[in-house]
Amino acid sequence: MNKKLKIGVLGAARGTCMINILSKHPEAELAAVCDKYAPALNEVKKNAEKNGIKLSCYNNFEDFLKADMDAVILANYAHQHAPFAIRCLKAGKHVLSEVLPCATIAEGAALIDAVEESRLIYAYAENYCYMQHHFEMWRRIKSGEIGEISYAEGEYIHDCTSIWPRITYGDPMHWRNNMHTNFYCTHSLGPMLMAIDKRPVSVSGFDLPDYCRNGKVPETLGAGLMLVKLENGAVCRALHGGLRRAEQPNDNYIYYGDLGTMETGRFSDAPVVNVYKEGEKYCHGEWERYNPKQFIKPKAEYKNPGHMGSDYYPTNFFIEKILGQKDGIEWSIDVYKAVEMGICGILAHRSVLNGNIPMKVPNLRNKSERNLYRNDCETTFPDIENGKLVSRRELPPARERDEQFQKYIAGLWNEHAEFEKYPY
Ligand SMILES: NC(=O)c1ccc[n+]([C@@H]2O[C@H](COP(=O)([O-])OP(=O)(O)OC[C@H]3O[C@@H](n4cnc5c(N)ncnc54)[C@H](O)[C@@H]3O)[C@@H](O)[C@H]2O)c1
Repeated sequence: MNKKLKIGVLGAARGTCMINILSKHPEAELAAVCDKYAPALNEVKKNAEKNGIKLSCYNNFEDFLKADMDAVILANYAHQHAPFAIRCLKAGKHVLSEVLPCATIAEGAALIDAVEESRLIYAYAENYCYMQHHFEMWRRIKSGEIGEISYAEGEYIHDCTSIWPRITYGDPMHWRNNMHTNFYCTHSLGPMLMAIDKRPVSVSGFDLPDYCRNGKVPETLGAGLMLVKLENGAVCRALHGGLRRAEQPNDNYIYYGDLGTMETGRFSDAPVVNVYKEGEKYCHGEWERYNPKQFIKPKAEYKNPGHMGSDYYPTNFFIEKILGQKDGIEWSIDVYKAVEMGICGILAHRSVLNGNIPMKVPNLRNKSERNLYRNDCETTFPDIENGKLVSRRELPPARERDEQFQKYIAGLWNEHAEFEKYPY
């Protein structure tokens, strides 16, 4: 195929990362960008002009959807992806969705319906699966090197306190101010679900206290923990959110398999993978420790594809899957996996609100079971159509809607006080 795929991007904040990947991809081109926030859209326009690119820019989704495009990348608000994805699919566009996939279980069910009915490609941009160290472990686990996995741990710790005014625009209604961190579990849990490749069947969630630096600063993201049981009895522990840690996210994973162990290297400058494989004798084996290289090379040279290079892969595999190419078919994340990651977060929060008891994870691959969840609309986001609002935090201090706090954050945003640039 000689013609490049035409791809549009909704959302020009995180979306700039996908715009960057598309700008050099040999098999696709950036066709249009949409953002209702003028400063973000203007920045994209300015950069395109600087690079001699003619770009259609839109400030509303309705006009954007009419643009000449084969596919859409959704980098809009995290809690609004499912309805936008459904509208794109109905308009005949393939969809790559940023995290989260859905804000309620009912939305997850409707999203799967829409993908099945459209027969188009839906892919999920869970980039932590493609971090150099994790992508390597996924490849080796998939090939069976350490056998069946019985236990795994994944962590995504990202203290966003210093960038909170900037990433919430000082707006109490911004999605980041209305989400519990257990909803944002796909960076910690997602890589494990992909590598182990078994369906989650139950989840218990926990809400961790945030002491707000001895009460001196307001709470921002909070932190959460979940224990997820898989269909083969294996258990995954996923930890995520804003615990105290230096600005770079901590993303570490461990897998215990029937024939060995794999573990990322903590506190190392470059990504490290440690592998133990049992030999002929029980409890004796070989350890390997190395800096993995990306085993699938980018198709163009990118200066900074973002998140240690992982940001290239969701967009690339999406393009390749649309084009029927092998790597895209093998490594792109489909709608079933996406929704499973997402609803584990929603159910972990439900578990928190019910004394941490395990919650059944429905099998939404099965249409008759999917039908039972069409009205399951519990969410922490106040602006979801037909949403049934539940409390965001179980534990004090839940100060995120506190008037004083909002004034403080809005003040920082308005004054453009020392915000750190968010590393997309
Ligand atoms: N995978 C990662 O590592 C990673 C990192 C950051 C953000 N994200 C995800 O990317 C998405 C965007 O995050 P963000 O930090 O850029 O959020 P954001 O809230 O800063 O930006 C979203 C942008 O979308 C625009 N937008 C939203 N709805 C729109 C609409 N209907 N029409 C036009 N424009 C609209 C907003 O104006 C805004 O500029 C989220 O889903 C988030 O979870 C993922």
